[in-house]
Amino acid sequence: MIIKKLAARAIRDSRGEFTIEVQVNRSRASAPAGKSTGKHETPAYHRSLKWNLAQLNSFQELRGLTLARFEDLEKVEETIRRKYKFRDARKFGANPLFALECACLKEIAREKGVPLWAVLNDKARKIPVPVGNAVGGGLHSHNRNAPTFQEFLVVPQARSFRENYEIMRNAHRWLKRQVRARTKNDEGAWQTSLSEEEVFSAMTSLARARVGTDIAASSFYSRGKYVYKNKVLRKREQIEYVLKLIREFKLFYVEDPLHEEDFEGFSSLLSRAPRGCMIVGDDLTATQLERLNRAIKLRSINAMIVKPNQNGSLLELKRIIETCKKNRIKTILSHRSGETLDNALADLAVGFQTDYIKTGISTKWREAKLKRLAEIEREIVN
Ligand code: PGA
Ligand code: ZN
Repeated sequence: MIIKKLAARAIRDSRGEFTIEVQVNRSRASAPAGKSTGKHETPAYHRSLKWNLAQLNSFQELRGLTLARFEDLEKVEETIRRKYKFRDARKFGANPLFALECACLKEIAREKGVPLWAVLNDKARKIPVPVGNAVGGGLHSHNRNAPTFQEFLVVPQARSFRENYEIMRNAHRWLKRQVRARTKNDEGAWQTSLSEEEVFSAMTSLARARVGTDIAASSFYSRGKYVYKNKVLRKREQIEYVLKLIREFKLFYVEDPLHEEDFEGFSSLLSRAPRGCMIVGDDLTATQLERLNRAIKLRSINAMIVKPNQNGSLLELKRIIETCKKNRIKTILSHRSGETLDNALADLAVGFQTDYIKTGISTKWREAKLKRLAEIEREIVN
């Protein structure tokens, strides 16, 4: 594939905010946007969305590049480094870099007549298990009485993706009444005024599914304490509280139980958590290899969220996922709370063979990825 046409434009995400879409020849890809963004994420744009759009629309040096495989993304990054004298292509901005690389891969796939996931790994056979946000609180909620935790997650337990999708949809439908919800939040999860414990309690009755949560603890950590609606906990107390919830509600998946700098707190929690319980880093690791290495050294996590636009470089994403696999850390490829209709996340999860994919349950932005996963399952089986 030779890059002939390159164009970038601003489009609106599921929250109605502007994000970037990049077109390479006949293929387009876009980047999502987070709300509970980690402090250590790669900045979304170099100067601004406007600056990145202008740069991409006049980027002559990228035109004429020949790309045939995933590893050729190095040529794209090298061209960016050379033009702007950056030491690292990610300095260009995580969103434009990710959308550009993703559009290049889609165009390679299109010209070869293969699915996108096969450009990453044509031997991929496993569909990742979906982790679905069913009830929301924290920064993602517009309800003032919402629970402090950000996400209440369904982790289905069937073998096939088709069945897992069905389990998640049924759980989402059933939970509406259980949590007395009327409206959905940015991610299509139900908004509730119940407490975290009441939500977990309802979820323990779910059939063929385990219960998870994204505590997103940085979002309510202030001056050394965890500030809830009705209580304030110190670090030790927060660890005890999370352990109590894990035991009482048999939580299988716990993301960001402590704030984003507390590698040591994570490791003391992990050492006491029941076997098999996933202690997941998101804001802690921020999809950065250096932070993953630190988490490995300190034994802080046994699972990690990987958000493509928290990093920007798909080459680096691959290194991160390989490092996780080598160290028996489970990987969860994840959407953002502000999403576009791009479904590439599904192909990336299959191509990278991550263990899980977190991409919501309801609304068209989340369904785009889930439907694509169902389609890939059919492509792989046949
Ligand atoms: P986001 O958060 O708003 O940054 O996408 C989602 C998450 O914390 O997992
Ligand atoms: Zn998170």
